Amino acid sequence: MNSAYEIHPNVYWVGGNDRRIERFENMFPLTNGVAYNSYLIMDEKTALLDTVDAAISAEYIENIKSVLQDRTLDYLVVNHMEPDHCANIEEIMRRYPSVQIIGNAKTLQFFNQYYTMNMADHFLEVKEGQEISLGSHVLRFYMAPMVHWPEVMVTYETTRGILFAADAFGAFGALSGNLFADEVDYDSYFLDEARRYYTNIVGRYGSQVQALLKKLEGLPINMICSLHGHIWRGEMISYILDKYDKWSRYIPEKKGVVLAYASMYGNTENAVLALASKLAKRGVKDMRIYDVSKTHPSYIISDIFKYSNVVFASPTYNMHLYFPMDSLLRELSVLNISNRKVSLIGNHTWSSAALKTMTELVNGMKNMEIVGTPIDIKSSLREDREHELDALADAISESLKD
Ligand code: FEO
Repeated sequence: MNSAYEIHPNVYWVGGNDRRIERFENMFPLTNGVAYNSYLIMDEKTALLDTVDAAISAEYIENIKSVLQDRTLDYLVVNHMEPDHCANIEEIMRRYPSVQIIGNAKTLQFFNQYYTMNMADHFLEVKEGQEISLGSHVLRFYMAPMVHWPEVMVTYETTRGILFAADAFGAFGALSGNLFADEVDYDSYFLDEARRYYTNIVGRYGSQVQALLKKLEGLPINMICSLHGHIWRGEMISYILDKYDKWSRYIPEKKGVVLAYASMYGNTENAVLALASKLAKRGVKDMRIYDVSKTHPSYIISDIFKYSNVVFASPTYNMHLYFPMDSLLRELSVLNISNRKVSLIGNHTWSSAALKTMTELVNGMKNMEIVGTPIDIKSSLREDREHELDALADAISESLKD
């Protein structure tokens, strides 16, 4: 049985969901699976926009067949050549031997690196702004390099104002029947997973996302169809464009504090909990505390993108920074996190390294402000140093008033 869905007259969602997958890219936990979206336009010519991951091939082919019926497929547009979207290209070529594959020069190069079928004979290379008419629908192509790979492009259907956006505006999480973001309680349930997807998958490429947003400025957009997550229409278009603008400029969405700590025996944790209590007593709201050894970094990273302030607290380990904290900070650096207010707490018993390394790593990031005087605990924080924690709490609460 198929689950194809007409999202606009003669435009169909033919994708699918994978709820069995444990980790996206074998790295990011997926508690609610992921959607692989693909779209099919029925006109004088038929056009499929991207394919899906190998895990859901069977239902995908069934969806396509249910829409095409006895017609053939004329075009396959490949906006993105990452395997979660291109694993079925060869299957499409086998089933529809006359199909023309639309992409750019890098699309073909990447296809040949991953697959063995001869795509060159089917390939129609397009350039920036080029248009292809399907009859009453017209597809226009815009290059969007590094959103999220170099070959990425987006396809704009000019007559209905539908943007097929590749990974952009996507999210983790499988779809539950409702395909449109305005049909679900997006803010309270899905937004966190959209942010975790953006920040961890595309977060590094803020300037390239900004370049794409500039290209899209002025285009009448009535619908955004991403390759993951819900479809955007109506008021939800400005909602997600606003989020993307903030995330890609590394601007916090909210004032608040993420306290990310590492702790071997509970002493660094104890200092962080005491700090959080002092912050609460000073009226600070919306704090998130994470043990970096326990919580997958993708969740912590997502919240660090969301909030204005972050506290990193970690012990020294083997005369280096405790590894999970070291890994978190390096990942944040790769993702180009910037514009945050950072407070630091180190800990050591005989040789201090954690605070020094955390300071160096944070100073290597762009426009990070150190708030308050960093504290270097010796094994456990004693009452005679509580004033240092009070001073740090004062500095953080003051910085939230800026
Ligand atoms: Fe969903 Fe960059 O692939």
